[in-house]
Order: sequence, then C-alpha cells, then structure tokens
Amino acid sequence: MAGRPSGGIIERYRPYLPVSPTTPIITLLEGNTPLIVSRALSQRVGRGAEVYLKYEGMNPTGSFKDRGMTVAISKAVEAKSVAVLCASTGNTSASASAYAARAGLRSIVLIPSGAVALGKLSQALIHGARVVAVDANFDACLALVKSLARQHPVTLVNSINPHRIEGQKTCAFEICDALGRAPDYQCMPVGNAGNITAQWKGYTEYHGRGRIGHRPVMLGFQAEGAAPLVKGRLVKHPRTIATAIRIGNPASWQGAVAAAEESRGAIQAVSDRQILDAYRLLAQEDGVFVEPASAASVAGLLRLAQAGYFKKARPAGRRQGPTIVCILTGHGLKDPERAIKSIRLARPLPPSLSAISKATGLKEGLSGGIIRPRP
Ligand code: F0G
Repeated sequence: MAGRPSGGIIERYRPYLPVSPTTPIITLLEGNTPLIVSRALSQRVGRGAEVYLKYEGMNPTGSFKDRGMTVAISKAVEAKSVAVLCASTGNTSASASAYAARAGLRSIVLIPSGAVALGKLSQALIHGARVVAVDANFDACLALVKSLARQHPVTLVNSINPHRIEGQKTCAFEICDALGRAPDYQCMPVGNAGNITAQWKGYTEYHGRGRIGHRPVMLGFQAEGAAPLVKGRLVKHPRTIATAIRIGNPASWQGAVAAAEESRGAIQAVSDRQILDAYRLLAQEDGVFVEPASAASVAGLLRLAQAGYFKKARPAGRRQGPTIVCILTGHGLKDPERAIKSIRLARPLPPSLSAISKATGLKEGLSGGIIRPRP
C-alpha cells in the first residue's frame, strides 16, 4: 500500500535496536501511528501553539505496548524461551499475549482482580494467555512475577525487560521524523514509568546522532490518587478511574525522574475529574477516542496552559508558538464501560416519530445542540 512502510518498528529502526540479522522478527506491523493536529487543543492553549496527538491506540493491539513487545518477544524467541510472563493493568497483557500467540510461545499474565478494563481482559483471554486474576493491586502482581521469573525458565516482558524500553523509544523517533524536528514539549501519562523513560532515551539517541537539534521538555502526568512520583513516596493503595496507571510503586522511578530533570520538565498530578473532562473533549471535539489513562496527558496540558505555563514558551527568534505533542497511549475501545458511564444514555422510547424527533432535538431544529457550530 502506498505510503505505508512494509515493516514494523524493527525493520524501520533496526540500527537503533538490539537485533542482529539472525534475530527472528515477530511483528504485527506496529508503529507508524498517526500524528494528528488538534485544533481544539491548539486553540485552548493559545499563543500560537500547535498541539499534536500521537495516537498510539492505533497500534495492532490498541496501545503503545506493541512497540516494546515486538522487540521483547523477538528476543525471547531468539533466546529459545518457551513462555513469557507479565503483570499488567491490562495493555501489557493484551500485547504480550498477542505477540506470544504469533510467536508460538505460551503466555502467563497476572492481573489485579476487578481492576482491568474489559477490552484488555478480552484480548488476553482470546489470545490464549493463562490469565490469573490476583486479589491484590498491580504493584503486588509485579513483585510476584519478578519472583516467578527468578524461579522458572520464563521470560519476563514487563518494562523492566530492557528490550521493551528499546522498542518503545521508537515513538520518539516517529514524532521527530514526522515533524522534521523534536517538539518543544511532550505530554504523557505515567504509570510504571517505562514509557517516559523509553521516549526520553529515544530523543536522547536521536539528539546524540545529530538527527534533531534539541530535545523536548518532558511533562509526565500521574492520576492524583496514584501519584508516587509527585509525592516522592510509594502509594500503598493507589486509586483512580484510569486503571491503566493505577500504580503506587513504579518500576522505572529513576528513569522518569531523570527524564523530567534532564529536560527541565516535570511530573505532575491530575484529578480523575480533569482526566474525564479531557477524555470527553478529545472524543467530542477532535473525534479521537482514547482510554482514560491516555487522557491524562491532555488533562495535564490543559492544567499547565490554564496556569500560564506556556506564556513564555515562544522561543527567541521563532515566529510561531510552541509545538506540543500529547501521547495518547491506548484506544478508547479498551474500556467501553467507562465511555458509556460517562455519557448518560436516555431510556428507550416507543417507536413514535414525534417522541423521537423531540428526543433527538430535530423538532427544535437542533438548537439544543447535538451539532455544534464550527468555531
Ligand atoms: N497509558 C496506558 C494506556 C497504559 O496502559 C499504561 C501502562 C500507561 C499509560 C503508563 O505507561 O507504565 O510505561 O508509565 N500500562 C501498563 C500495563 C502498566 O500493564 O498495561 P508506563
């Protein structure tokens, strides 16, 4: 197909990745995700800002995890592993089980019972993973899989596996390749902190090889009830509606702190209400459906914009405002229950034209506004 590179991220970024000509490549053609201009957010930030959405929900299993998983599973096959293991808030397990199925490996996943969105659970099950729901949170599940991996001949594919980080850094490469330079700011959600670590590594490598002239300011956002990096201490009982980032003891703590400090950025907290507002805004004004955790990057962007953070952002000698990229880590269909819960569904009506034209607003000429005037 014209315009679409034939391979996945390993084929496109091979010189940057830990593979050799003999590594068997397990791919579902991940990566090459859309970088979409957001008019709604550019306007809200103002000051000539250009806001882009990197829609990682368009990866084969619906999240950014596929970038890391193609490398981790390819290396597991190369190492003659027969099974992979992970703890997950859902997306890692969905990705691990899909790539393992493709490679003919067994997969075992531990998930916090009752705290994984339905779409993600359905993926792990249908791909044939052995799914174990544990009566504990993600942090406890991660501690358990680390012990299991020490005792049994299985490959751990959580982001403490360095091959995961290597694959995930390609998101930064794609953003630079698409823009022709690095953005000025990058906003992203932070949970176990592997992704911010990986993307900072990606920008740093591109910078080191002279592919970009500067690296972005990295802005990471945790949910208020699950913000150990913001508080500077572990959170024993993390809480948030954004189940993907309900994590109290991030494995890549140091990596996240380094990314924020070295880039003169920050890790901040956003409330569940701000997350849900951003979630609806993305869907209703930009037509982009993400899962709640992904909306944390936009919630954080809007919070900073309202606080005047971007006021002095116009770099000297540049005519336009700052370029900002928000990473949208996972697809909205991962968590359909949340979408339905956050928008009231009216009760069913009888099949009557007059009742339906009234309920749809058509009777009043749509003045009630299902259709908004274009700004
Ligand atoms: N967004 C989504 C949709 C996620 O699934 C995750 C992490 C994050 C953001 C945070 O990324 O952990 O690298 O800081 N999900 C993991 C999982 C923990 O098990 O699927 P991070």
